[in-house]
This record gives sequence, C-alpha cells and structure tokens, in this order.
Amino acid sequence: MNNITQITHPLVLHKLALIRDKNTGSKDFRDLVEEVAMLMAYEVTRNFQTEDVKIETPIGKTTCKMLSGKKVAVIPILRAGLGMVSGILRLIPAARVGHIGLYRDETTLKPVEYFCKLPQDIGEREIIVTDPMLATGGSAIDAISMLKRKGAKNIQLMCLIAARQGIEAVVEAHPDVHIYTAAIDEELNGNGYIVPGLGDAGDRLYGTK
Ligand code: PRP
Ligand code: URA
Repeated sequence: MNNITQITHPLVLHKLALIRDKNTGSKDFRDLVEEVAMLMAYEVTRNFQTEDVKIETPIGKTTCKMLSGKKVAVIPILRAGLGMVSGILRLIPAARVGHIGLYRDETTLKPVEYFCKLPQDIGEREIIVTDPMLATGGSAIDAISMLKRKGAKNIQLMCLIAARQGIEAVVEAHPDVHIYTAAIDEELNGNGYIVPGLGDAGDRLYGTK
C-alpha cells in the first residue's frame, strides 16, 4: 500500500515493546510515547523542502541547506494524541499546535466531537495529525474531515499502532493522507480495542484507570 509507512527503526521497536508492556507505568509510558513520536518525526519530515543558504562559519564562507517549505502544524486528537506533541516539537519547535477533541462512544464506537481549535493559517501548513491508536479509524477519519473543512490540504497521520481495519478505512476515506505507524496489528476485539495493541492509550498516559 502506497499510503502507509511503517517505521521499523530498532530504537522505535524497542521503545514500542516497552510501551505495550502492561507493567509500564504512566510516567514511563508518557516518556516513551514522547520519545517514539520524536523518532518518528524524523522520518515524517524526511521529504521536507530545503534551500541553499549562505553561512559564514568562524573559519570561512559556505553554502548550507535550511528548511524552506511550508510551516508545520501538529494536530493531536485529544486526549491520547497529546502525548505525542512534545516529542515532535522538540524537532520542530516553531510548529503551531491545534487541538481536535474526539472520544469514542463506548457502545457505538463512533467518534463524538467536543473541541476544535486550529491555527488560522491551517490551509498553508504541513499538517501532522497525532493519535497513538488507529483502531476502527473512525476518530482519525472524522478529525481529518474536520481539518479539510477548515481548509487543510497537506495532511499526514502519525500513529504508534494501527489496526489493519483502521488503515483500510482511512485510506478509503482520505486517499490523499499518508499514514506513518510504528506497528500494524491485525485484529480488533469486540470492544474495538486493538489486539495485542497497548490497551487504552489515554488512560495509560494520564493514569485515569
Ligand atoms: C482512542 C484513541 C483514538 C481512538 C481510536 O481515543 O486515542 O482517538 O480511540 O479508535 P478508533 O480508530 O476506533 O476511532 P478515545 O476515544 O479512547 O479517547 P481518549 O484519547 O480521550 O482516551
Ligand atoms: N483506543 C485505545 O486507546 N486503544 C485501542 O486499542 C483502541 C482504541
């Protein structure tokens, strides 16, 4: 599939194993999610444009490359997507951050919207949507649709674990969006949780269960 990149760097795989482990507590879980997001951001930004700039070092003049393309907006899907933002901002400190609030209704598994606040120039920016879990795909599909309604065009989705079903749903709804994930899991259980997954990402990040 052209729309998906699985990031299999050994550091990412190692940290993801620790994240999945049920014995990893909230503090370590938060730190690891931040670190993996930072490592993944390195790959997600691989094709960003650069331009030649003239620089004077203490020794002499030279021409170097600096970023020249569109500015970036990081858009976490609340709550769990928030855990990935700080890692990305460590690499792209000038990025703006918008927030989309969605939760999955526990019975219908359909996303329910409760918040949307985006940078005004969202249509001019490279968008990185963050959510650790892509399960049925409903939340990501809705978040991306909200972004498009506000004028966003260049959208990438960054997850930690994506279920095959969620990937297929996002690709069908938004074929222009590239998905980056550290793992692809095959199954969802009857409650819509990814198997083996990592459990409830929001609860594990914030210690709410
Ligand atoms: C989780 C997760 C995704 C969504 C994935 O959020 O962070 O947003 O479920 O499921 P889907 O692909 O089937 O839509 P949740 O609704 O639990 O909210 P939270 O982040 O506030 O805990
Ligand atoms: N949301 C989660 O937090 N985990 C899953 O496995 C699925 C949806």
